[in-house]
Amino acid sequence: MKKALILLWLTAICTGAFAAQPSWLKDAVFYQIYPSSYQDSDGNGIGDIPGIISRLDYIQSIGVTAIWLNPVYVSGWTDGGYDIIDFYRVDPRFGTNADLAELLRQAHARGIKIVMDLVAGHSSDQCEWFLQSREGADLRYSDYYIWPSFKPDGGTTPGAGGSLDDAVRNSAGASLLSKFVATDAPRGPYYIKNFFDTQPALNFGFANPDPAHPWEQAVDAPGPMAMRRELKNIISFWMDKGVDGFRVDMAASLVKNDPDKAATIKLWNEDLMPWFEAEYPEGVLIAEWFNPSQSVAKAGFDLDFFCHDGQYNYSTLFFFGRRGFGPNAVQATPYFDKAGTGELKTWYDLYTYQYNAVQGHGYVCMPSGNHDFNRVCTEGRTTAEELKVAMTFFLTMPGVPFIYYGDEIGLKQNPAAPSTDGSGFRAGCRIPMLWDATANAGFSTAPIEKIYIPQDPDPNRMTVEKAEADPASLLHYVRTLLTLRKEVPALGADASWRLVSTLDQPYPMVYERRTAAGERCWVVLNPSGKQVSVTLPTEASAPELIGGSYKKCSYKQTKKGDVIQISPVSAAIFKFNSSRAFPQWPSAVVSKADKTTVEFVVRDDKPILMDIYQFKGQKTEGKRPVFIYSFGGAWAMGSRVDALCNPLYDHLCEKGWVCVAIDYRLGSARGRDGKPLITPPEGYNPFQYSIDIGVEDLYAATSWLIEHADEYNIDPEKIVISGSSAGAINSMNAEYYICSGHSLAKENLPDGFNYAGVMPMAGAVYLTGDNDTELRWDKRPCPMCFFHGASDPTVTFNVENNPGRHGFGPEYIGQQLDTLDVPYMLYEYAGGDHVMALLPLKWFWNEIDSFLDRIVVEGQNIKVHAVETSPKPRTNENWLDTVRPGQFNAVNRMRGR
Ligand code: NOJ
Repeated sequence: MKKALILLWLTAICTGAFAAQPSWLKDAVFYQIYPSSYQDSDGNGIGDIPGIISRLDYIQSIGVTAIWLNPVYVSGWTDGGYDIIDFYRVDPRFGTNADLAELLRQAHARGIKIVMDLVAGHSSDQCEWFLQSREGADLRYSDYYIWPSFKPDGGTTPGAGGSLDDAVRNSAGASLLSKFVATDAPRGPYYIKNFFDTQPALNFGFANPDPAHPWEQAVDAPGPMAMRRELKNIISFWMDKGVDGFRVDMAASLVKNDPDKAATIKLWNEDLMPWFEAEYPEGVLIAEWFNPSQSVAKAGFDLDFFCHDGQYNYSTLFFFGRRGFGPNAVQATPYFDKAGTGELKTWYDLYTYQYNAVQGHGYVCMPSGNHDFNRVCTEGRTTAEELKVAMTFFLTMPGVPFIYYGDEIGLKQNPAAPSTDGSGFRAGCRIPMLWDATANAGFSTAPIEKIYIPQDPDPNRMTVEKAEADPASLLHYVRTLLTLRKEVPALGADASWRLVSTLDQPYPMVYERRTAAGERCWVVLNPSGKQVSVTLPTEASAPELIGGSYKKCSYKQTKKGDVIQISPVSAAIFKFNSSRAFPQWPSAVVSKADKTTVEFVVRDDKPILMDIYQFKGQKTEGKRPVFIYSFGGAWAMGSRVDALCNPLYDHLCEKGWVCVAIDYRLGSARGRDGKPLITPPEGYNPFQYSIDIGVEDLYAATSWLIEHADEYNIDPEKIVISGSSAGAINSMNAEYYICSGHSLAKENLPDGFNYAGVMPMAGAVYLTGDNDTELRWDKRPCPMCFFHGASDPTVTFNVENNPGRHGFGPEYIGQQLDTLDVPYMLYEYAGGDHVMALLPLKWFWNEIDSFLDRIVVEGQNIKVHAVETSPKPRTNENWLDTVRPGQFNAVNRMRGR
């Protein structure tokens, strides 16, 4: 059963088919329109739906495939349309419901989807429901809102609920109490708002109603259930007219007093989502939640944003200061700035967390902008070149791209724009579109003083007309990027992402996109005003430059590695021709630790060596744990081994470990001198023999270390074995032989000895031994196994006398995994390929490091003085969430078994 699940899951991941995802979503590119500012058709100075219809040809020409419209419903206009009076009717400023139907017809005729805004959490205080609810408790809409009869004691931040500064909103005092609005309504003295005072919260209930607060209804009480029905009704009303889905405003806000969002997630995941998917399987639901690990991975949304708000944001990439405004903004130069002093780590940590969380569920989307924060074209970043670098980023990352209207031509933020319709500072990004050289840049025929928000008066301002005429414009570049994205699957929504360059050297940033089929692109971004270069692991061959915006960009293969050099303020996209490039690694990764090489055993007259790493001068209290790593075929690629393990050794040694690399002797590979190392004795199954001598070597190394424990200040009870490829198989068998009482273990190890942990990395499960029909494995949980094998069940590694049994295929692996009861595993297959060498190094180090922390150290065994700063480490709580499975062709994670 478990095995069947594994395989099913793998199939889903490989095909990229998310059960509930509309079929068109993975190829979609969204264009967000703030309707008041796009195109005015009736000369009143405010944009409208017929205006949008008149621009559909242009919209289509950009290469986008879907439009998200900010709210177009009848509104009180105290919050840009987000204070809805009538959820079922288009506001007269935009036209009629019939105009919307026409927009749907015309957009669909061009292959463009239309997604509306669903304001699920609140209405306007002018909404008929609220007007009735404020009058009494027994009317039809009475329970659509929340009416506290008193205000409990407790801290509060006045205005926090509707504050546009998320630091204020998220502060400790900004609890529900900050959303109590005093009122003289008969139902008073308070109602609960969702954002501004004019936006009373709709009542979806409370996560844990307090009996002392009679206004707190349960999530399934009649009022909240009626509210849900109304919400479904609104959704159906528009979906049945042909709308293609919704962006759900403040989707996390529905259930009150729900700090971990469990009840809100449940409401979506168990009710609204299944209903929506059954009714509208091709409809999309986009969360405004700013935490895809909740909204997408748990609540069931197709995608969620990662931009300006919430804990997970890209502020450090684009904003001066935390959000570029507000009293709490921390002034810092963003990464996308020609100063070239920005950092990537903050964003990388936040993004990778979310990126990992949504794998197999949906998407994280980084929009070019939206109606709530500074435009990408803003002070300090206004040239076409700078914007092209930023757009390259937005349009080549995984997930579904969103272009905020005007960002395709570099529509510039207007910091001086007066607050309009409750926008506050947000007016600066809601400025009307600039089309041409006619009055009001073609936006409206109204007198200039009636224009919705004043336009940029600069006579040199960019317009669509000018951009069309200039082949080097941002607009043409955006079109080229979107065409490329469409043609090259590795640049699409589902292709995996990993950072190739390092966080220590943020300029240029190089990231890889890769499809399950192995197509690979590298995107190189240099927003800085300096020419920069980076040396990366050697690829099988240099890739081809297929796009970008640069004066100069070169990719050279040198002895030191592959060097990419790129001109100031530039972006480049490379594509590898060989989909199965096998990376070689730089030769010059030298360990900083002190290395001693010793002969620990002699076999066939040959001394077998091991390298022992430690910081000799390090002062420690207590004895040191030991990490023994034995290599597989990678040993033959000497430089790879150094690159793979030396940084890991250094890091572990800093923490007080002793690290040991032992020579490798599998018959099919070579030793340090490049010659085959073993010849099986007559009658000995060669595969079995190669495992047995690998195990013997591990035992010999272990015994040697135990004998020399005092000299190296080693704790014999804290020896962990690990290894890659055949080294993984060897370490598994080394443990298995101990558990099953195999003669090799009895003869070669001190009585009663066992390892503190076993960590096979990238090896097929392959347990063998005297009595291998009764598999035993006492190391529960086996901390982690990362397996490689083949997706094709017919791929086997047949051994003489054991036809079909010793396979790297899923059948055999599944069987053995069940037996081992591995609590957590990654399973990678690549058509039978041996993929250890494709492991991203940092991922590998992180995995080992965090598992070692779990097994051995935990602060009890050793104290190290003067530890150098280490890159992470992770904790017991977060370890499962920090792996990056998306970096692999196919990966399975099994949790909590
Ligand atoms: C988020 C919207 O994007 C913003 O514009 C609005 O003010 C609040 N939600 C309240 O609806």
